[in-house]
Amino acid sequence: MTTETLYTDRLILRPIQESDVDDIFHCWMSDEDVSRYMYWKASDDIADARRFVKEELTKIESDDWYRWLIITKEGLTIGTCLIYFDGEQGEWDISYNLGKEYWGQGYATEAMRAVLRFAQQILAIENCIALHAVDNEASARVIQKLGFALEKEVPYECNGGTIRTIGKLYRLRLNNPKKQSNTIMNHQGTKVLTTDRLILRPLTLDDAQSVFDNWASDDEVTKYLTWQTHQSVDDSIAYLTMCEGEYDNPANYQ
Ligand SMILES: CC(C)(COP(=O)(O)OP(=O)(O)OC[C@H]1O[C@@H](n2cnc3c(N)ncnc32)[C@H](O)[C@@H]1OP(=O)(O)O)[C@@H](O)C(=O)NCCC(=O)NCCS
Repeated sequence: MTTETLYTDRLILRPIQESDVDDIFHCWMSDEDVSRYMYWKASDDIADARRFVKEELTKIESDDWYRWLIITKEGLTIGTCLIYFDGEQGEWDISYNLGKEYWGQGYATEAMRAVLRFAQQILAIENCIALHAVDNEASARVIQKLGFALEKEVPYECNGGTIRTIGKLYRLRLNNPKKQSNTIMNHQGTKVLTTDRLILRPLTLDDAQSVFDNWASDDEVTKYLTWQTHQSVDDSIAYLTMCEGEYDNPANYQ
């Protein structure tokens, strides 16, 4: 399945393109502080970024490899993330890294929440693992904030095999909406739809501020609707919490 573009409050996650080589090289691929706990090693040769992009482009339609470039809504490339099926382990696994100057602003967690929603709602993945080197406390926090539970310690090789250490392996169980809905044959869930100028996608909690700012707080918009104008962003959060809970309910699709 093609890697879909995903949207969060602050970020756009889109498939990698040929023209991303320079950004990828300068943002993270040439920085050993980023690669320290990744399986790859930083490089000072831009040809490695070209090879990386070329390899990614061959996998763009793959059913077991979904990689995104992470871009801010202002258009800055800040990192990358991935969910892939590890054939050796027989498990779906995730990976992510940001350029150093973008660390510590909640971006990795925000991006990976969107990836895990995609995994659950579109790929119907039922569970997924995540690993981090024992000393990588930032990644440990990201994994914990995403709701993964620690399972065991495993050997961990990183920085192109130059660092051998201990890793922590976590697991997240995802409810499979497709399985729950098998009593209704044609239940498809809410799909992402695209037109020439628009993308129609399910609402998420990350949309609360823009829902509130753009229409829910506007009396003119809500005048003839069945619900009342939102007085604060908390009303929009409550509304979106209700919406998120309804997406998996097959009764809504009869
Ligand atoms: C891991 C990484 C992606 C995190 O990205 P990020 O956008 O900074 O992550 P977030 O801001 O969403 O969350 C980081 C959390 O770790 C915490 N943290 C950061 N550095 C920490 C440290 N040294 N010790 C303890 N906690 C730390 C932050 O405070 C934050 O937690 P909080 O929200 O509870 O305050 C980023 O550091 C990175 O690219 N590292 C290099 C690549 C890498 O290691 N990838 C993961 C391989 S498993």
